[in-house]
Amino acid sequence: MSTPQKHLVTCALPYANGPLHIGHIAGCFLPSDIYVRHLRREGKEVLFVCGTDEHGVPITLKAKKEGVSPQDVVDQNYVRIKESLEQWGVEFDNFSRTTRPIHHETASDFFRTLYDKDVFVEEITEQFYDEKANQFLADRYIVGECPNCGFDSAYGDQCENCGTTLSPKELINPKSALTGNAPIKKETKNWFLPLDTLQENFLNDWVATKKEVWKPHVFGQCMSWLNDGLKPRAMTRDLDWGVPVPIEGAEGKVMYVWFDAPIGYISATKEITEDWETWWKNPETQLTHFLGKDNIVFHTIIFPSMLHAHGGFNLPTYVPANEFLNLEGQKLSTSRNHAVWLHEYLNDFEGKEDELRYVLTSIMPESKDSDFSWKDFQARINNELVAILGNWVNRVLVLTHKFCDGVIPPNALKADYNILEEAEKLAAKAEKHIDSFSFREGLTEVMNMARLGNKYLQDTAPWHAIKEDGGQQRVEEILNVSLHLVNQFAHACVPFLPNTSAKIKQLLNVEGASLMAGQPINKPELLFKKIEDEEIEIQMKKLEEKETVTTVDLEPVKPTITFDDFSKLDFRIGTIVEAQKVPKADKLLQLLVDIGLEKRTILSGIAQHFAPEDLVGKQAVVVCNLAPRKMRGVESNGMLLMAENTEGKLVFVTPESDIEPGSIVR
Ligand code: 2FM
Ligand code: ZN
Repeated sequence: MSTPQKHLVTCALPYANGPLHIGHIAGCFLPSDIYVRHLRREGKEVLFVCGTDEHGVPITLKAKKEGVSPQDVVDQNYVRIKESLEQWGVEFDNFSRTTRPIHHETASDFFRTLYDKDVFVEEITEQFYDEKANQFLADRYIVGECPNCGFDSAYGDQCENCGTTLSPKELINPKSALTGNAPIKKETKNWFLPLDTLQENFLNDWVATKKEVWKPHVFGQCMSWLNDGLKPRAMTRDLDWGVPVPIEGAEGKVMYVWFDAPIGYISATKEITEDWETWWKNPETQLTHFLGKDNIVFHTIIFPSMLHAHGGFNLPTYVPANEFLNLEGQKLSTSRNHAVWLHEYLNDFEGKEDELRYVLTSIMPESKDSDFSWKDFQARINNELVAILGNWVNRVLVLTHKFCDGVIPPNALKADYNILEEAEKLAAKAEKHIDSFSFREGLTEVMNMARLGNKYLQDTAPWHAIKEDGGQQRVEEILNVSLHLVNQFAHACVPFLPNTSAKIKQLLNVEGASLMAGQPINKPELLFKKIEDEEIEIQMKKLEEKETVTTVDLEPVKPTITFDDFSKLDFRIGTIVEAQKVPKADKLLQLLVDIGLEKRTILSGIAQHFAPEDLVGKQAVVVCNLAPRKMRGVESNGMLLMAENTEGKLVFVTPESDIEPGSIVR
């Protein structure tokens, strides 16, 4: 596959709501960086952009949880993310942010152009609304059961379990992520992208041209959307964090985060070059989006539709999405802290940036989900990087010092050059694989060069040859070929192992592409160090400890009681018949509860969790024989049982189905 001269490469913008983990790395940062390094090595002109996605509900939810402003959240995470990427060594031309003025301007202009071209459909619809929080519940503000896989915490925009994109209305038993309350519906005006007409007029034909171009799972996912028939999708939200909608009548509304985020690729380009149009509008420039599978619909359907509707922009040629990476057989999870964080890896494994690149490329989830395990990490480094690559390079260098005084010996007999030709073929295969986004296979071919080098050394055995007649000359030939092969390897591994490549070049003492006989080489140094069992044990332990953090927050079980103690308690089902606020008490509700035998007044400290009018008719478990207690001049005769999670969220303990008040709970 021959590629054009100019390339704009994008890597999906991570949300600035937390640090990066190995799933982000294997999903898009690593493949995009490999691709870009490969293109640059081929002398292509490349612009590689990314940045943080700083709007959207993931950010505001995080801010709420931490009791800080959304701006604080993104400021802190931008720095963290950028620093870890720099330390790990990704070659971005720009790593921008969607809260920068250039982005707000670019996104506003884009929106306004679509508006002026009458692209949007303006519609008043009913949206979920949390009365307690006084807020519309878009996207991740609403959670419920996924209609596709049954996962119980799917978001209003997407199920993180099965990757399905959702709209809030599709969720089963929707609840507000802010208060846990069931939402009501309220009317509001929004601006919709008419994906149904865009499908007919544009997407069907355009996507059809990608059948042989995109990876099968990318094309397949895109087609299943089209086959289902697209519906108009709101591009505005009733939220206060985001890019303001720049039109009259939309005051207080912001753009849907998935409208502004991909425009972030454009603003990141504008930010660093006045000549930005040559990257976006010149048909000779190839546009390639790297992303994870949960972002496929946005990059194959929504963003291309936006670009098409706007007009004048290139559409993506390739959308090489990866599937998901798991960790030790389980889904990576930020909330459960089941993750390997990039900044922690870089701290724990200092100087081992290429080792992470190597392992993650070897297991990259290119066409199906894959699994990272610490044992496998250790095995791949010890058995492959150390035993095959590091060992081979070291042997060649040591033998050159031993038999040739550390100087590159004269060129060899033609007969042995077939080895170098073979290596050249492997390198060419690797390049082809990179061109077609098969990075795992590309890396295998590159490692096959090291295998070839090992075999050559083993077959020619310079340590024996030196003892034969004419041994010195033969050994010099072998080492000349081996050194050339090491140098070829250093060139071939650039996209995958850039630091290793530079290190080999430094050991060979070469700057350009070719070796010169008669040149001294540097003192050998090991390229890789074995990973010891203890290092892996530390990581495994760290994972276990991290995951127990959630249970550590739970209160320990109370001391054991006897059955007699238990049977002293009188639990019954009660039905709330009246509920009202207690004057001058923020937390208390005064309830009248029917417990079958009588109606009791019970005071309950739940006023900040429930509105009184929502409680009438509700059944709960009541402790009926608790000694009466007077609060705010009112006597409380009993207690309602509530379940409380570690974050203080309260839910009723209610019978599974209605039952007569007074029914005994035992
Ligand atoms: O899924 C995500 O993490 C999004 N922040 C990706 C955005 S990619 C782009 F379009 F900006
Ligand atoms: Zn699902």
